[in-house]
Amino acid sequence: MKYKDPNCSVGERVEDLLARMTLEEKVAQCVQIYIPPEGREEILARIRKTGLGSRILSAVPLGGSVTQRTAGIADLNEVQRIAVEESRLGIPILSGMDVIHGQHTVFPIPLAMAAAFDPAALEQASAIAAAETASMGIHWTFAPMMDIARDPRWGRIIEGYGEDPYLGAQMAAAAVRGFQGELDEKGYARPGRVLACAKHYVGYGAAEGGRDYNTGEITDHTLRNIYLPPFKAAVQAGVGTVMSAFHDLNGEPASGSRYLLTDILKDEFGFEGFIVSDWASVGELVNHRVVAGERDAAALAFDAGFDMEMISECYTHHLAELVQAGEISAQRLDDAVRRVLAVKFRLGLFDHPYADTDRQLEQLPLDEYRAASRRAAARGMVLLKNNGLLPLKPDARRVAVIGPYAHERRTMLGSWVNDILADEPGTLADALRAALPEAQILTAPSGLYDEMLMAAAEADVVVLALGESHARNGEYNCVASIELPAGQQALFDALAGLGKPLAVVVYTGRPVALTRIAPQADALLLAWHPGSLGAEATVDVLLGAVNPGGKLPVSFPRGEGQIPVHYNHNSTGRFNPRYHDMPVTPLFPFGFGLSYTRFAIDGLEVQPQAVQPGGRVRVSVTVTNIGERDGEEVVQCYLQDCVSRLTRPVRELKGFERVALQAGESRRVSFELGAEELSYYGPGGRWVLEPGEFKVWVGSDSNASLEGSFRVA
Ligand code: BGC
Repeated sequence: MKYKDPNCSVGERVEDLLARMTLEEKVAQCVQIYIPPEGREEILARIRKTGLGSRILSAVPLGGSVTQRTAGIADLNEVQRIAVEESRLGIPILSGMDVIHGQHTVFPIPLAMAAAFDPAALEQASAIAAAETASMGIHWTFAPMMDIARDPRWGRIIEGYGEDPYLGAQMAAAAVRGFQGELDEKGYARPGRVLACAKHYVGYGAAEGGRDYNTGEITDHTLRNIYLPPFKAAVQAGVGTVMSAFHDLNGEPASGSRYLLTDILKDEFGFEGFIVSDWASVGELVNHRVVAGERDAAALAFDAGFDMEMISECYTHHLAELVQAGEISAQRLDDAVRRVLAVKFRLGLFDHPYADTDRQLEQLPLDEYRAASRRAAARGMVLLKNNGLLPLKPDARRVAVIGPYAHERRTMLGSWVNDILADEPGTLADALRAALPEAQILTAPSGLYDEMLMAAAEADVVVLALGESHARNGEYNCVASIELPAGQQALFDALAGLGKPLAVVVYTGRPVALTRIAPQADALLLAWHPGSLGAEATVDVLLGAVNPGGKLPVSFPRGEGQIPVHYNHNSTGRFNPRYHDMPVTPLFPFGFGLSYTRFAIDGLEVQPQAVQPGGRVRVSVTVTNIGERDGEEVVQCYLQDCVSRLTRPVRELKGFERVALQAGESRRVSFELGAEELSYYGPGGRWVLEPGEFKVWVGSDSNASLEGSFRVA
């Protein structure tokens, strides 16, 4: 049998297998279900009869916020054995799970990984997550999430890379490379990697009011220029699967849109993998009221381009009948099945269907992984203010470590982490105590505010850990106010009244309003949800073992009334559309972050000064560490197309590089701008590069003022 022969090409194997399949067997490959203990026997019988496309390993849709029941290797192998040995064609099952920022070793949340402005670190984190996931017999992760998010009320902002399409695209591609690795010469995945899934396609972050699952309206212009680039980058990086979004976009559910799924993703981007729905999003077409029942939902979704349906079983119940009735073409079904099978072949499932019990989690270099997680966490932290209090002096005698997150473990990990890991992270108070054995660490583990104030009153310096719980962000966890949760501002105000040196650490998954805290705190460190080693990483930064170099991947508004506020807004006819009661600028802009040293960026050169369309321009600067400590700066390059036919952003990030410099050291940094950076989706629905003048700015955040220009002739 050719399809079982690893010496044949993937294409030959797919065609050989497809030719042997019955209609029911084909439909089964387009289905993904959860196998509940109570319905197990029935499902196993189904697998014997028709096979099964995929099995999802979470029991409930909000996998990110609850304890997940995860099947063990024995169970995965047993179900696989039934598919491989007891079904007619022996097609293996693809097992998928949400591994968003770590499986066993938890890395910082994706938004924090973006803040490191270091795609290589994300690639490494994703490769580690892949190794741990593969060691547990799981083949597929529903990550990376690459939804552009301009609204911090939306809880899922934590899962993506922030507001910027360029940064988002670099990060999306890095995560895909890390999860999937490079295919071998014969086109097969290498061991220890998993299949990635670019989600949620597309515009999901534009939910009205920041309410998850809500309607979005995005013009084609904004969709193409802002929301689609990370997905295109993921496709170019070879992502094997794409997941659609739950919401309705421009009057059409994203899960029923032929324009989005087939015309753009498959035909225009040339995506060759398969598209999976989100949890029951095919069935939910009925709730959107674009179809009257599940049969029509199956027809609409399948015709739109979904190859695999997650959870709701509209395909199981209706697809065969739709094909027989001629309402879905047999070619379209074959196309979907080909895509699913090709992914399975490439993953090596036909040749190695079972989890390798010799490569289990314990055999992996977990200490190395933990070191990488700690390093990534510290690199993603953003120093928002410092009047010289940080790094804390090693001879500090009495240090109060207080606040709602001083003794917290689970929140370090963030959402989309299996709650069985909840007790593993250390606490900030313990980590600081371990790092400062000579000091007296004053705490208030009771959580009582009066005890916190008493500890602070006795201390020489106060470290106050504020923020929001991991349970308050992530999927379906949206807020109307971006102020810190109740009581924290009052606690801060009371502490500030004591007049002690005060460093505030904020653990959060979304921008929170720090408008009344920033002016009064002596130092403000944004630590996000930093992962398994988050407490230790925080201490690395507080004590200066790591000099912070993270930058904001999303603007920090002064209050929710400013939302949406993002640096890359369009030019307006009357400048400065304003409020009477609040400045229009965010409290901290995109790209912002301080260091314990200082950097100078100068010597801007733009070469050549004029290019033909298609030519390349090199923008170079010198970055110098002019402070006393070694440190890292993210040099950022922004572009403006001075005159364009359609209104364009005032500036757009088009290059960045994180540079490590010793005290006193200088380095030349260059950015190349070519057709891809200079063009935009413009008039007539085409990518255009309009001749004329372009401006560039290079600096350390999105307000960079070092300016140059060039012309495209
Ligand atoms: C989420 C997805 C996730 C899926 C499977 C859905 O509720 O929107 O991001 O991958 O569940 O757990």
